[in-house]
Amino acid sequence: MKSTLLTLFVTLSIIFTSNSQNSALKSSMERGEEIYTDFCVTCHLPNGKGVEKVYPPLANSDYLLKNREASIKAIKFGMQGEITVNGKKYNTVMAPLGLSDDEVADVMNYINNSWGNKNDKMVTEAEVSKVKK
Ligand code: HEC
Repeated sequence: MKSTLLTLFVTLSIIFTSNSQNSALKSSMERGEEIYTDFCVTCHLPNGKGVEKVYPPLANSDYLLKNREASIKAIKFGMQGEITVNGKKYNTVMAPLGLSDDEVADVMNYINNSWGNKNDKMVTEAEVSKVKK
């Protein structure tokens, strides 16, 4: 009896935790979408595909997928120098955008989970604040 109750309790808390994580991710993505429209869409485009050789794609970007910290750093402080995204080289400049740490987290959650991208591990403001220049 005791172990049945324990199993029930553990199951319920898992369901509860994953639901509240999902809704936190969802609302972060909603804020992130607005930030994307205001700050990113001119270069990376509404479909996240960018412009070949000039603005790298975010949709399906192996760079974004594999370089979580470097991507946060790029959005937070800007980026320049050669990078390879999906086998193509880019060597241009993304100026710093002046976003706060919570805005960087929101827009990361949006791009990590749009256009077929999927990343359940939510980016938090605390994580962004730890990323230094
Ligand atoms: C003025 C154009 C421009 C704007 C606006 C811009 N970017 Fe970029 N972005 C670039 C360029 C250019 C690079 C590649 C820089 C290089 O060659 O080193 C880049 C690289 C990146 C990368 C890493 C490479 C990749 O494709 O995964 C990410 C992630 C990214 N940008 C996200 C964003 C987000 C999110 C915003 C809005 C908050 C944004 N960018 C706004 C031009 C821009």
